[in-house]
Parts: sequence; C-alpha cells; structure tokens
Amino acid sequence: MTLTRPTPRRLVRQPLQALAACVALGLGTAATAGEVEVLHWWTSGGEAKAATALKGQMLKLGHTWRDFAVAGGGGDSAMTVLKSRVVSGNAPAAAQIKGPSIQEWAREGVLANIDDVAKANNWDALLPKPIADGLKYKGSYVAAPVNVHRVNWIWANPAVLAKAGVKLPTTWDEFFSAAEALKKAGVIPVAHGGQNWQDFTTFESVALGVGGVEFYKKALVQLDQATLKSPTMEKVLTTFKRIKDYTDRNAPGRDWNLATAMVINGQAGMQLMGDWAKGEFVAAGKVPGKDFVCAAAPGTAQAFTYNVDSFAMFKIKNEANVKAQKDLAAALVSPEFQEVFNLNKGSIPVRLNMDLSKFDDCAKLSARDFVASAKAGTLVPSIAHGMAVPSAAEGAIKDVVSQFWNSDRMSAKEAMDRIAAAARAQ
Ligand code: BGC
Repeated sequence: MTLTRPTPRRLVRQPLQALAACVALGLGTAATAGEVEVLHWWTSGGEAKAATALKGQMLKLGHTWRDFAVAGGGGDSAMTVLKSRVVSGNAPAAAQIKGPSIQEWAREGVLANIDDVAKANNWDALLPKPIADGLKYKGSYVAAPVNVHRVNWIWANPAVLAKAGVKLPTTWDEFFSAAEALKKAGVIPVAHGGQNWQDFTTFESVALGVGGVEFYKKALVQLDQATLKSPTMEKVLTTFKRIKDYTDRNAPGRDWNLATAMVINGQAGMQLMGDWAKGEFVAAGKVPGKDFVCAAAPGTAQAFTYNVDSFAMFKIKNEANVKAQKDLAAALVSPEFQEVFNLNKGSIPVRLNMDLSKFDDCAKLSARDFVASAKAGTLVPSIAHGMAVPSAAEGAIKDVVSQFWNSDRMSAKEAMDRIAAAARAQ
C-alpha cells in the first residue's frame, strides 16, 4: 500500500459532505437500518469469501451493504481510489487501512472516534496492546482490526516436491537446492508475481531469514543508514536476486492469486507469500497437509512478520449510517465474525483467547508462533504490507527493490545505496 503523504494533507481543505442521505430501508427497522459503504481490495477467491462473511454479518443486523471493492493485491489501487473519494468529500463509512497509514489519515481529521464501541465491547482487554495502540489516534480508537496475517511463509505442492525428490526447505541453502531440483524436474520452482509489493514480500522474508531479527528491525523498521549499507544488506540483496532465476518468464505483472494457482495446479512448486494464500488453497477445495503444505519462510521459524488488516472509520453524517458504521466496528471484533472471517481469509483471529478448534494446522502454528515471538522479541511488522514505516518511505524503498529485481545491470551495492538514499529522503 502506498499512500503518498502530500495527497492526504490536501484533504483537510476539502469540506466533507454527508454521504448520500437516502438510505435503503428494505431490511431491518426504519429507525436503525443504515447503509455501510466499505472499501476493500478483497477480490480473489479466498478474499471474496471472507468479504462475503462481513457483508452477511451486516445484513443480519438489518443494514444495507454497499461494496466498494477495488481490485489489486496489496491495496495500492484501493488507496489511490480512496484518496480521490475523500478529497471529493465523499468518504466511505469504512476503509481497509492499516499500520502507520491509520495515523496519517487521522491527522487529516477525517476519521471518526469509535471509543464508545471499543469500551462497550472491551477492546482494550481483548486485543494485544501493541495492535490496539496502532488503532488509536491520540488515545482514541479510529479503526477496528479483523485479523493477524503472517507474512513470512512458504507454501508448496507436496506432490510436486515429491516428484523432484525434495522436502519443504527450512534454510536458504535448502531452498536453492530444492529450487534446482524442481527446475530439473521440469516445473517452475517458484511461483511469483512481479508487482512491487510481491517483490517486497519475498525480499522481507529473505531479509529476516538471512539477516536475522535485529538486522531486520534496524535496517527496515528503523531505517538505520549504516545497517542499510552493511555487508549483511548486500548478502540479503544477493540472495533475494538469486530467487529470480527460479521464477518464470511470465511473472512480470502477474497477480499473487494466479501465482498461488500455479502451485495449486502443480505448474509450480513453491510460493513465498503471506497466509492470504492459504485462503486461496482452501477456496479451491485443497486440504492443508495433504494438497498443500506450509512452513515459515527459510530461516525465519523463530520469528513472525505480522500484517494486521483493519478498517478505519470515516466521519460521516447521516445518523442511521453512523449507527450502521458502529455496528460494523463491533461486528468486526465479535468472536463469531473473527472465526468465520479468518477461516476463509487464511489469517488468525486478532481477538485474544479465541477457540481455534476449527482452524487448521497452519493457523495453529501461526497462533503459537505469534505468541512465542511476541515473548521472545522476534515479532516484527511487515514493511511490504504497510505495518512498519510511513507510507512515503515504504513506497520509495519498494520501488528500488523492484528496480533491482528487474534490472540486469544494477549491482547489490548500488541497490543498497539507493535504498539508503530513499530511506533518508523521507
Ligand atoms: C492484505 C491482505 C490481502 C493481501 C493481498 C495484504 O496487504 O493485508 O488482506 O489479502 O494484501 O491482496
């Protein structure tokens, strides 16, 4: 997600108009039924099933759902569309916004305070504190969370791995030997989509696996100049670039879910992707442990890169719609919704102490590693998914990483100088 800072700054000068006053009252009681317009980018198979669960929840409460889906993995297109809608004074009730971008939008004065919902539903006690803090602006909740996605995963088709005589790799050395064997067996070793957020999703897993947690935090979260220009960074970039040899010629521009489909149908062996990929496997009727397997990305089993999806609530005027908006916020964190949504989405509930008996082994591993890494200090935010650094810095760094991935001429040394410069400029 790339939210360039200057655009939201301009938002404050635009008067916010009320959302369309006309409320469809076909459902529920006339006194309380409202409309919620929800912006999201959940359009792939698994994502759409999860979004439908949310719509169902709102219809049950008697409200009308207005779907504002903007296709495009990682949400870059959705954020561009959101900006123009808010600038024209026509914000949706809720939008999928996460990480530091929540603060950027809140500073513009366009987000609604939902403390009443949070208090009534005890969010402070039910949510992990660092996550709750990120949903607040000046101490008040302005967004509601839905899940915890883990980003540092590797997914594979076990039948394809068996054909090549390899196991799911746990180190980068094993990864490259497996990739070589898969290539010899005539399959595409790594399913990849050449879009800059996907390039970076791979890059940050390599950074965590090759560089370790301290390196990851210093280089990519704190944007420390010396660490960004260190020999470790050079090794990370070189390892990252080696992966490209094992992707196919049609990777540029490919959507992430089409890359997952290549693993599902046996055209490719492995994919480095967050666990929304599991939503895709499951939506295709595939069984975890049998038709597909999961593990932490090579070298990252002791760490957890988190990506929390959340919905920021915008200031709207129509009273019935405000009620619908508050009902939406409450529903998002409710145990029923957390279960059904996350079963479809591939993520785990963000609400603490949930019963996970209906969840599969990948989700259970994720939940265990989330708690263990929080204790060990190895829980790190995903940069690729907007959880760590201001959006302008994130966008600038992502661009350089993708240029490096796509260039035959740029050396790792040059790439790290440019990444450091991009980080410094923000
Ligand atoms: C979001 C996920 C989404 C994925 C692919 C991530 O940034 O957090 O919810 O499934 O992008 O679109």
